[in-house]
Amino acid sequence: MQFKFRFTAALVLALGSHAFAQSSPTSAANILHQRTLAATCANCHGTDGRSAEGASVPSLAGQPQATLVAQLKAFKDGSRPGTIMPQLARGLSEAQIDQLASYFAALKR
Ligand code: HEC
Repeated sequence: MQFKFRFTAALVLALGSHAFAQSSPTSAANILHQRTLAATCANCHGTDGRSAEGASVPSLAGQPQATLVAQLKAFKDGSRPGTIMPQLARGLSEAQIDQLASYFAALKR
């Protein structure tokens, strides 16, 4: 009887915390995931998407979210030509494009 109660309580707790983790879109894990993804752009676009003065690679920080989404989708579908980005953008999912665009749009220029 006691065992049964404890087991049920543990199950409720486990299911409850699982549901909580799933339903929180701005969890620490999601923020870390977004930053890690954005860090892969830093080699060329500069730390936090700010490229060096006079660099040929454009800055991403502070560009409008919709502009960044449109550019990445254009590279992905081939409507905007480029050297590196068409190849790179083909490897990004729609969700990753949205995450990256939101991340860089929220940064100061
Ligand atoms: C290996 C270098 C390199 C990496 C890594 C890279 N980019 Fe680029 N990016 C470029 C270059 C070069 C351009 C100019 C277009 C071209 O030649 O492909 C560009 C252009 C862009 C543009 C268009 C900006 C504008 O103002 O027109 C966006 C948006 C962009 N990159 C986003 C990203 C994102 C997001 C990542 C990370 C997932 C990333 N790039 C990673 C080199 C890079």
